[in-house]
Amino acid sequence: MRIRRSLVVAALAAATLAVAPAAAFASPGGGTAPIGPGAHLTATQPSLRVLSMRSGLKVGTAVNMDLYGSDAAYTRIVDQQFNTVTPENVMKWQLVEPTQGTYDWAAADRLVAGARAHHQLVRGHTLVWHNQLPSWLSTDGVTTSFSPQQVRDLLHKHVVDEVTHFRGQIWQWDVVNEAFNDDGTPRQDIFFKAYQALGLDPLGYIADAFRWAHQADPHALLFYNDYNLEFTGAKSNAVYAFVQQLQAQHVPIAGVGFQGHLDTQYGFPDLQNNLQRFAALGLKVALTEVDVRTFVQPDPAKPGSYTDIPLTPALQATQESYWTQTLQACLAVKQCISYTVWGVADSNSWIPGVFAGEGAALLFDDSLQPKPQYQDLRHVLWTTKAPRRV
Ligand code: XIL
Repeated sequence: MRIRRSLVVAALAAATLAVAPAAAFASPGGGTAPIGPGAHLTATQPSLRVLSMRSGLKVGTAVNMDLYGSDAAYTRIVDQQFNTVTPENVMKWQLVEPTQGTYDWAAADRLVAGARAHHQLVRGHTLVWHNQLPSWLSTDGVTTSFSPQQVRDLLHKHVVDEVTHFRGQIWQWDVVNEAFNDDGTPRQDIFFKAYQALGLDPLGYIADAFRWAHQADPHALLFYNDYNLEFTGAKSNAVYAFVQQLQAQHVPIAGVGFQGHLDTQYGFPDLQNNLQRFAALGLKVALTEVDVRTFVQPDPAKPGSYTDIPLTPALQATQESYWTQTLQACLAVKQCISYTVWGVADSNSWIPGVFAGEGAALLFDDSLQPKPQYQDLRHVLWTTKAPRRV
C-alpha cells in the first residue's frame, strides 16, 4: 500500500530529520525503514512499532479475530504497526467457555500464534469481569443460579485453567476488569456477592484471582484494569487506596491498566498525574484501551445512521490533541510500559454500537487509511524525549 506523502507527513519528515540519529531500523514485517539524512517517509513507514523503539514503550492494538487473518489490509496493519496485541474479545470467559466445562481456545490460540510470528507481546484480556460472562453462569453479571461456594469454585477453575493454557505466552494479564463504580463503591457483581454471602471480605475475590493467576504463570505481569482512572476523583481514589491494600497483603499485583476511553465532550483528564501516583506505589502502569470518540455527522443516505466524520473540524482538532496528550502522558512516566489502542479502524470500533451518535474514535478510517491522529502519534513517538523503559 503506497500512499502519496501528505502535508502532515512532510511536516513529520522535517521534524524527524531534525532529531533523528542516522540509523536504519528493520521494520518487522514491513521492510526496512531508513531514518535519518535521506530518510524516506511514506504515509505509514516508519511504523508506530519502529518509532516506539526510541523509548522502548510498546505500542499495541486490540485485535478483532473475525478480521485478523481474513481481511488482508486489516491484518497487515496489525502485524506491521504494533508490537503488542490484545484480543478484543476472544479471551473473555463467554468466548473461551461457551458451554460449561467445554473450552474453545481456537481463536485465542490464533492470536497468540500471530503475535509470536510477528514478534509481538500479548496482553491477556480479561479473566474476571462482570460483562461477557457465559450465559450458563450469568446473563446480567449480578445474578446467577449457582451457590456462592460454587461461584467461588468456578472462578478458581476458570482463572487457573485459562492462565495455565497460555502459560509463558502472556506478557500482561488483565486479571480483574472494572471492579469499581464511578462513585468509588465496589461493583456488586456475582463474585462480590458470592464472597459476601460466604462471610469473606467481599473484595477478596480480587486478591484470590491474582494469587491463583500468579501460581499458574509466575512470569506474567498481573494487572488491575479499569476506566475513568484517568480522572482524579472518587473512582480513581478508591482504586488507588484498594491497590495499596492488595500490596499490604502481598497480593502479586504488578500493575494498573488505565483503559483510556476518552470522549471530547468530557475534557482531557489529569492523566499524567494519575499515572504518576500509581507508579509511585511501585506499580507498572499502562494505557490499555485508548480511543477518542466524538460526535459524528449523520449519514444522509441512511436515516438514523451515522458516518465516521466528526461533526465539526474543531472536534477533529480536539480529538487529535487528546491522542497526542495521552501518548505524551504515558511517555513521560517511565513505568508506563505499554500504550494500546482499542481497535484498528473506525469501521470496526465498538463505539458506534454503544454510544449513539458518536464515533471516529480510532487511528484508521473506514477504508483502513491512516487518519491525522495516526500521524500525530508517530510525531509524538519520534520527537518526544522520553525516559527509556526498563
Ligand atoms: C468491548 C469490545 O470492544 C466489543 O467488541 C464487545 O462487544 C464488548 O466489549 N472495556 C473493556 C473491553 O474492558 O473489554 C470492552 O471491549 C470495552 C470496554
